[in-house]
Amino acid sequence: MSPDGPDWLSAARETLDRATLGPRVEHRGRVEEIGDGVALISGLSDVRLDEVLHFAGGQVGFARVLDPDRIGCVMLDSTTDVEAGDVVFGTGEVVNVPVGEALLGRVIDPLGRPLDGKGAIAPEARWPIERPAPSIIERDLVTEPVQTGIVVVDTLFALGRGQRELIVGDHSTGKTTLAVDALIAQRDSDMICIYVAVGQKTSSVRRAIDALQAQGNFERCIVLVAGSASAPGLQWIAPYAGMTMAEYFRDKGQHAIIVIDDLSKHAATHREIALLTRQSPGREAYPGDVFYIHARLLERAAKLSPERGGGSLTALPIAETDQGNLSAYIPTNLISITDGQIVLDQTLFHQGQKPAVDVGLSVSRVGGKTQAPVLRAAAGTLRLDYAQFLELEVFTRFGGMPDGRVRQQLTRGARIREALRQPQHQPIRLVDEVALMLAVQTGLLDDLDEPLVAGFRAGLPAALDRDAASAVDAIAGQGSLDDSTKAALLGAMTRLIDKLSADEPTP
Ligand SMILES: Nc1ncnc2c1ncn2[C@@H]1O[C@H](COP(=O)(O)OP(=O)(O)OP(=O)(O)O)[C@@H](O)[C@H]1O
Ligand SMILES: [Mg+2]
Repeated sequence: MSPDGPDWLSAARETLDRATLGPRVEHRGRVEEIGDGVALISGLSDVRLDEVLHFAGGQVGFARVLDPDRIGCVMLDSTTDVEAGDVVFGTGEVVNVPVGEALLGRVIDPLGRPLDGKGAIAPEARWPIERPAPSIIERDLVTEPVQTGIVVVDTLFALGRGQRELIVGDHSTGKTTLAVDALIAQRDSDMICIYVAVGQKTSSVRRAIDALQAQGNFERCIVLVAGSASAPGLQWIAPYAGMTMAEYFRDKGQHAIIVIDDLSKHAATHREIALLTRQSPGREAYPGDVFYIHARLLERAAKLSPERGGGSLTALPIAETDQGNLSAYIPTNLISITDGQIVLDQTLFHQGQKPAVDVGLSVSRVGGKTQAPVLRAAAGTLRLDYAQFLELEVFTRFGGMPDGRVRQQLTRGARIREALRQPQHQPIRLVDEVALMLAVQTGLLDDLDEPLVAGFRAGLPAALDRDAASAVDAIAGQGSLDDSTKAALLGAMTRLIDKLSADEPTP
């Protein structure tokens, strides 16, 4: 024992000496009403928009509606243990999420909490979920291609880094698959992939994660999940949180691509929260600001100017339609916000034309300048040929046998359609796409039976690697399509076709 008394006593004295005693201002309010993921709170007069609120039971929420006498708080945790009368504290902080390299390869919730059981994440920083979009001066033109490895997208609706392209279609028409395939294709690029699931079924999210892990480079992906069973608040912040995590890479001069699956569910959550916080409903009962919240979100995708580091953030939001109705409120809003849309059609999907892209309704408004020049050279008039074929096909369906030129166009069109088919989770390289387009445009496939085209497509990468290795290297190095490269590719493909025809059993 020391002369001052027992050890614990001196320790306590020391703690007391260090403590600063004095009045502390604490903002507290009380829960007035609670239910369905929203709490109405009174007595917190100096809370700001999006401020995080802590509940006495440890739950968190954030302020969404600031009325003079009460606050509409959207809960980010389960509300089962929150009761009317509970104390609520303001924190002075807006909702923020962890950002940094540590998130790569992880499956997390919108607040950055791990969902994959791989332990805690040590973030580089915490950034707010709402950040201003880059201004006009900070931006650059969208000119560099995003290689999605999906033939129909790369050849007809080429995407650029910094672009926002909507993927829209009915229920179960391959929207998620198309977006995930575009992420898988980034295994060969320098792009960071972020997949945000909002209100999706757990099975669908599981499938996306499995595909990314099996085929993609998962170490460069972040999967952010707010499933259909998550609190509405978590679903609401998910796209914003994903954008913030992606912006970290964009602002460092890197390139990122974000898929938001899907914004229809997000709009429904927004409507739910708005109705619960008593905001006045507008068209289809959505509150008036539903256009604004999505515009604000997607404006954050950008190609930055060289002064700002030249990074880019490409966004692929997804929207679901009902019976192909593109003019419903949310799909039209999103179509007008984005730089183009890829429309997936249920009829095509059921006919087995997958990916079921409706070539007439889809568009990339950034234009052909983002397309890799080699691919543009090889694809040539593909779009026009295919559009003519689709019209001719309707005309000749009921007629007799068409004459020579029309028949030729029909044969070519059918080969184009076949070439645009693609199995899921198998994005192909640029050189394979270039070769495939060359084969179609030079008529190499015209004499091949339609079912054999699938075999041709499947065997193409290996055949090129084996028989035209130098051409593969030339195109991979972003070279141009000179005559010798072209001849090498055509030579390799002719050999493949001969082999396929020889292998086919004669009837
Ligand atoms: N290119 C493809 N080739 C073969 N099967 C495909 C292809 N694209 C999608 N599918 C299959 O179609 C089904 C529906 O696909 P997906 O889940 O991507 O559609 P979705 O539009 O996202 O559906 P939801 O509306 O439920 O979100 C899946 O079983 C998927 O495996
Ligand atoms: Mg889906």
